[in-house]
Formats: sequence, C-alpha cells, structure tokens
Amino acid sequence: MKQRILVTGGTGYIGSHTVVELQNSGYEVVIVDNLSNSRADVVDHIEQISGIRPAFEKVDCLDFEGMDAVFAKYPGIKGIIHFAASKAVGESVQKPLMYYRNNLVSLINLLELMPKHGVEGIIFSSSCTVYGQPDHLPVTEAAPIKKAESPYGNTKQINEEIIRDTVASGSPIHAILLRYFNPIGAHPTALIGELPNGVPQNLIPYLTQTAMGIREKLSVFGDDYNTPDGSCIRDYIYVVDLAKAHVIAMDRILNGKQKDKVEVFNIGTGRGLSVLELINAFEAATGVKLNYQIVGRRAGDIEQVWADPSYANNELGWKADTSIEETLRSAWKWQLHLREEGIM
Ligand code: UFG
Repeated sequence: MKQRILVTGGTGYIGSHTVVELQNSGYEVVIVDNLSNSRADVVDHIEQISGIRPAFEKVDCLDFEGMDAVFAKYPGIKGIIHFAASKAVGESVQKPLMYYRNNLVSLINLLELMPKHGVEGIIFSSSCTVYGQPDHLPVTEAAPIKKAESPYGNTKQINEEIIRDTVASGSPIHAILLRYFNPIGAHPTALIGELPNGVPQNLIPYLTQTAMGIREKLSVFGDDYNTPDGSCIRDYIYVVDLAKAHVIAMDRILNGKQKDKVEVFNIGTGRGLSVLELINAFEAATGVKLNYQIVGRRAGDIEQVWADPSYANNELGWKADTSIEETLRSAWKWQLHLREEGIM
C-alpha cells in the first residue's frame, strides 16, 4: 500500500515540486495550503505532470481543529513535510508578530497532532540563513548558528529548536531539518514554478521578469563586497534537485535509517556563484540579454555563503547535479509560460 504523506504548503513553490517527486516515487500525498501565497490550480498542474491528483484541503496550519480534522479525514498519514510558512525577509521586519505567529504556531500545532495521529516523522524547511555570515566556507552543518538578521530568519532558528526540544522531551517522532540554500528554477514542463506576489524580492524572478520586459532593469545590490567580482555569492540549487532531497529524507525516516532522531542536512550544490556570474550564465544559457545596473548594497545581505553538501551527498546518497545553465533555462521557460498563459 502506498504510504500517505501530508505536505503543508504543497501548492507553493518548493512544495508543489516536492509533491510531484513524492508521487513519482509512489507516495500518496495530501496537500494542506491556505492559498495565501499560491493558487488552487497548482493542484491541476501537479496532476498534469504526474498523472495523479493529490488530495487537497484548504486549511490554515494555524487552525488546530482544522488540522486535527485533516488527520482524521486521511487516516494513516506517516510523515509530514512542512513547507507552509511566511518567507519574505523584509516583510518580517515590518510584521514580526505575524511571522512569529504563522511560522511558530503552525509547527507547534503539527508537533502536537503528530503523536495523536501516529505520524512518525516530519521534515522541516530550514534555511542556510541560520548560519548568518559563516566564518568558514563552504559551510558545514557543524558551523555555529549566528544571531538571526530578521524575524523570518529567527523563526527558522526557533523552529529548529522547537523540534529538538520536542524530540528530547520524549515525543515519539523523528525529524529531519533541511537547510536550503537558494532554490531557483522551475519544473522542466513549465507547468509549475515560482509565482511571486507583486514586485519580486528574490534575484531570479526579478531577473526573468526583467528579461521579459516586465521590469526595466535588474539592480545588482553592491559590487564592493570582498568577493572576486565584488558582488554577493550564493549557492543556487535547482528546485527539482531540492524536491528530490525531501523524498530521500522521508524514505530515510520511514525506513528507520536515521542515525539520530533529529538530523540536519545542508541542501545545496557546493558551488558559490556571484550575482554577476549568475547574470552572465543566464545570458549564455538563454541567449537573452539582460538590462542591469550596479546599485548600492541591500541592507541585511550576507556577503557570501555556499554549502558543503558532502554530509547530504554521503549520508543521503543525494546530490544536486543539474547544471546552472539548465536550471536558468527552466526559470526562463517558466517566465515564458507565464506570459503565454497571460498570468504575467
Ligand atoms: N539580488 C540583487 N538584486 C535583486 C535581488 C537580489 O542583486 O533584485 C542579490 C542579493 O543581494 C543577493 C542575491 O541576489 O546577493 C540573492 O538574493 P535573494 O533575495 O534571491 O536571496 P537571499 O540569499 O537574499 O535570500 C534567500 C531567501 C531567504 C533566505 C535566505 C537565506 O530568499 O528566504 O536566502 O537562506 F532567508
């Protein structure tokens, strides 16, 4: 029998790609999403890609009774992949309480409901933001956690601790914390991808919207950092590679292969690319010329961070192996699709 997995935030960007990979690997998926930052038709697109329609419940993870009812309606849920969260760094500075409530209470509700409904494991979407500016690069999982730069980043740190404390207290659950680096790109079918609300804050959606002519110019935030070309360096990981890491992590929990009840993995490529290198790679991969200008630094930006993914590579047998060119072509194809559909 297929094992049943609950995916919160399953119509969102990373969530939708993960649902596809879970279904491709034989899991049965129940999506819970409040649609605050995604569209209901993502469920149709997931079905188009994988040939299987996931169950979908429009419920907010803050709603304890609503979530309780979801577990009752779909008995036997074995694992949870918890994506549902607010994720805009700038907004979190303006609305800290909203961020603390949304991101902390949602997780607490799930952790309280798991033992009641016999759910064995949870995979939590954490972030390399917990490392701040690491002292050593590439950064390993053993690097110290730095004081968070924003309420958003703080919710990732606190949620990691909430999970550790809950497991330490004897709760019969298992957890894997995946620290994502910078997820980009879209499914090769261009049927699902990142759909930013309003003016994009992240580099790739802003870049592809500029290439499309929706934005006039991409601003490169700073060329005076202590990096080879002066622009910031990140570890950009293809969202489909990232999605696959979740399937392997879920298999690991459900097959009892964990070394500890709480494990943490860096999910990145191990390759650092500067903003200017990324722009060049986009132009080379797509043949599309990009209008950009160098402007001042953006407040709160980390200068450079990229992963040492060797623990995930060796322990999970997982590797992010899609080239940056292919990844950027997928982002561009998605932007073209949005235009064809009249969405953007
Ligand atoms: N950048 C630009 N111009 C833009 C947008 C971004 O030059 O218009 C630069 C940024 O300065 C940074 C790089 O592109 O150097 C990447 O910026 P993103 O906003 O795409 O990503 P961040 O690394 O700042 O943030 C991402 C996630 C956060 C998460 C953080 C660390 O968006 O949610 O990684 O995990 F907290």
